[in-house]
Amino acid sequence: MGYFLPTAFQLGIQEVDDQHHALVDLTNVCADLIEAGQEKDACPPLKKFIHLLEDHFHKEEAMMERMGYPGLDWHREHHADALRVTQKVFDTCRANEQITAGDIADLFNNVIMDIVRADLKFAEYLEGRGDLRRP
Ligand SMILES: [Fe+2]
Ligand SMILES: [Fe+2]
Repeated sequence: MGYFLPTAFQLGIQEVDDQHHALVDLTNVCADLIEAGQEKDACPPLKKFIHLLEDHFHKEEAMMERMGYPGLDWHREHHADALRVTQKVFDTCRANEQITAGDIADLFNNVIMDIVRADLKFAEYLEGRGDLRRP
């Protein structure tokens, strides 16, 4: 069984939710390749994952800035940490070194942490202002 996002992790902000799902989809592509013993082929989807993650974080931060979200600075730091972990996995792959199912689990955990520890708080903030109706 692959990685998936439970419904409770939907923010109710379509664009952000779609990106979270796309990130999890890419995590599954990498996990399947590793399971099939084709870890070398995981570099391109990993690169895609990083680009999407960067784009995702920029979009979230821009949105938070626009909405005057008070937790933005902390959220930014959390994003930078997540990017560092992801870049490390990609560098390992690019250097032709072994990446493992555990590395891919780290990527998934980054997405989950982004949602659970940070994004959901932002969604609650918007909901409290009456700017968002959560599913
Ligand atoms: Fe996010
Ligand atoms: Fe985030």
